[in-house]
Amino acid sequence: MSELRIPGSIASSGVATAAMRAPEGTRPDALFDAPLARLLVSLRGEVPADQRDYLADGVSATSPLTRMMGDYMAVRTHFFDTHLRATAAAGSRQVVLLGSGLDVRAYRMPWPRGTRIFEIDSAEVHAFKDELLARTDLRPTAERIKISSDVTGEWREMLAAAGFDNARPSSWLLEGLLFYLDRQICDDIVKGIAGGPAPMTWLAGDYATSTPQERADFAARNRTDDKAPDSADIITDGILPHAAPGPGAPPAQWLSPAEWNVTESTFVAHGTTLDRRVPDHWDSRRGGESLWLFHAVQKAS
Ligand SMILES: C[S@@+](CC[C@H](N)C(=O)[O-])C[C@H]1O[C@@H](n2cnc3c(N)ncnc32)[C@H](O)[C@@H]1O
Repeated sequence: MSELRIPGSIASSGVATAAMRAPEGTRPDALFDAPLARLLVSLRGEVPADQRDYLADGVSATSPLTRMMGDYMAVRTHFFDTHLRATAAAGSRQVVLLGSGLDVRAYRMPWPRGTRIFEIDSAEVHAFKDELLARTDLRPTAERIKISSDVTGEWREMLAAAGFDNARPSSWLLEGLLFYLDRQICDDIVKGIAGGPAPMTWLAGDYATSTPQERADFAARNRTDDKAPDSADIITDGILPHAAPGPGAPPAQWLSPAEWNVTESTFVAHGTTLDRRVPDHWDSRRGGESLWLFHAVQKAS
């Protein structure tokens, strides 16, 4: 059987993220299903030995850091699923996933007829995901359109060429992406989203306002416990070196109040509403980092 090679550099973050979501679908109180993620984790034996830690799932992982990330993935995925259902009900038939990774919302969520989901990520991420999808019997529940682009590049033009209509309502998701971008790029992305004449534009995403160094220090403190061998090297050594400052301010301060109505939450706040474990050291009230979840709707001009 041919070896399954995980894409390198920042592209690997999408694979690790998916793996950390894998256990959710098997819980009795599951917040969502994660069919591709479960397949991914089951293929651990097919990836090169030095890449296997990318496929540590968020529950049985031995590292507290990886388990915490698993909790975070569950909470944030629920937050965005809920938001996207609401925007679909309000008339959005275009969904744009920037930094789509192994997102399978185009397969696992029920979408109104005519919904188009545009997935923007690197060509190698799309190829890896297609290789996984080919091993499943998943069927799309919306039209899925792949766009291979850097989010710092010509994605706006590519979207238009792929059929995105900026005169119609759309929902944009920046899930797990802003952690790796500088403020200027974050601002440019929002400008690119807000530019059209559509009557309704929604935007959602997550990021941390702690500095990349604080994130690295936090991860180093939590990568192991005394009883278990470390399985978090992939996060600390493979993914966190790509961390960037992101927007640098809470969502309602970052997004112009003149242009956006913002609803902001945090990992702690949303996790608590779901009765999910939110480790003390991720709680900003106890001095941990602030992990923001937000959704916003553009104000009529
Ligand atoms: C942490 S993953 C999140 C993936 C997905 N949104 C999810 O939550 O499962 C970040 C994704 O953003 C992509 N990404 C990061 N920087 C990018 C860039 N500059 N251009 C395009 N994609 C990028 C990576 O390839 C990766 O798939």
